[in-house]
Amino acid sequence: MSDSPDTTDLPFDGAISAYFENEAPKQIRQAVQEGDKKDILRDTYPYARWMKKKDYEADLQALQFELVKMLAGVKDSGKRVVVLFEGRDAAGKGGAIKRVRENLNTRAARVVALSKPTQTESGQWYFQRYLQHLPSAGEITLFDRSWYNRAVVEKVFGFCDDTQRETFFRQLPNVENTLIDDGIILIKIWLNVGRAEQLRRFLQREKDPLKHWKLSSIDIGGLSRWEAYSDAIAETFARSHTPIAPWTVVLADDKYRARLNVIRAILSRIDYPEKDDDLVQKIDPAICAGPDIWH
Ligand code: ADP
Ligand code: AMP
Ligand code: MLT
Repeated sequence: MSDSPDTTDLPFDGAISAYFENEAPKQIRQAVQEGDKKDILRDTYPYARWMKKKDYEADLQALQFELVKMLAGVKDSGKRVVVLFEGRDAAGKGGAIKRVRENLNTRAARVVALSKPTQTESGQWYFQRYLQHLPSAGEITLFDRSWYNRAVVEKVFGFCDDTQRETFFRQLPNVENTLIDDGIILIKIWLNVGRAEQLRRFLQREKDPLKHWKLSSIDIGGLSRWEAYSDAIAETFARSHTPIAPWTVVLADDKYRARLNVIRAILSRIDYPEKDDDLVQKIDPAICAGPDIWH
């Protein structure tokens, strides 16, 4: 079975700046312009200022030390941990995963970032290609996007039909409950990026050749589908935020605050020896909570 790599399929002809100039809603364009000037978060973020890099780095280092202890505990106790990273394009999933894994053994803490399904995979049970990557005892698997593709991006772009999506939502609780019943710790993280900040990040990626690989035709196509995404996301929370498999939503316009809270959210779900509870418990409820803080 050959996997088709996600090669860059963009001509880089300025599609994003063209959208910014000609199509973006006026208040979004203004927010992006003002943000660039004043370095202040905009849209609906609860803070007006970026977190200071110095404060971020101090907390990050302490939390990464906790992650090291956590993974040692997971190995010793034979736990299995699955973390799903979800969110719109440019929400910062890759960056958050990178910080979680920075000081961890890459064999024990694996990242799974699947390309679009191959023909063989399309012929299989939808969950199959994801479930084959579940962790073994002592491992933690970080999914950069997950089976929730069917709930959101596949809906927005018409990559699945309504019957396939309904089948997905019908099977979903059984699948997740079965993983949990078998002892897997399942952590579902939704990174929320505002419309202006998303556009600002896309523009930066367009300007910087080192970031071109992060852009895809899905990102471009998504620009005019903001509302369709919102509908699909709202429905996803309504149908998959359950007491046994809840979502943690992290407001991610400020990447630094977001990453620190993502790490705390993960650590708070896992018991391990010599845990620094005071450090871990400092989750910021204004930006890290349930789907009710999503907008
Ligand atoms: P990413 O944001 O993860 O770098 P993209 O923005 O290119 O990747 O695509 C978003 C998601 O949509 C990916 O998980 C990708 O595999 C999926 N996707 C893209 N094209 C298709 C398709 N034709 N059918 C199903 N899924 C697709
Ligand atoms: P700096 O490295 O602080 O000069 O910032 C470079 C870019 O990153 C600017 O566009 C800032 O708006 C942005 N930025 C600064 N701090 C943060 C932060 N905490 N989260 C996200 N972006 C930031
Ligand atoms: C990221 O910023 O890493 C993203 O969430 C990935 C993407 O652009 O889709």
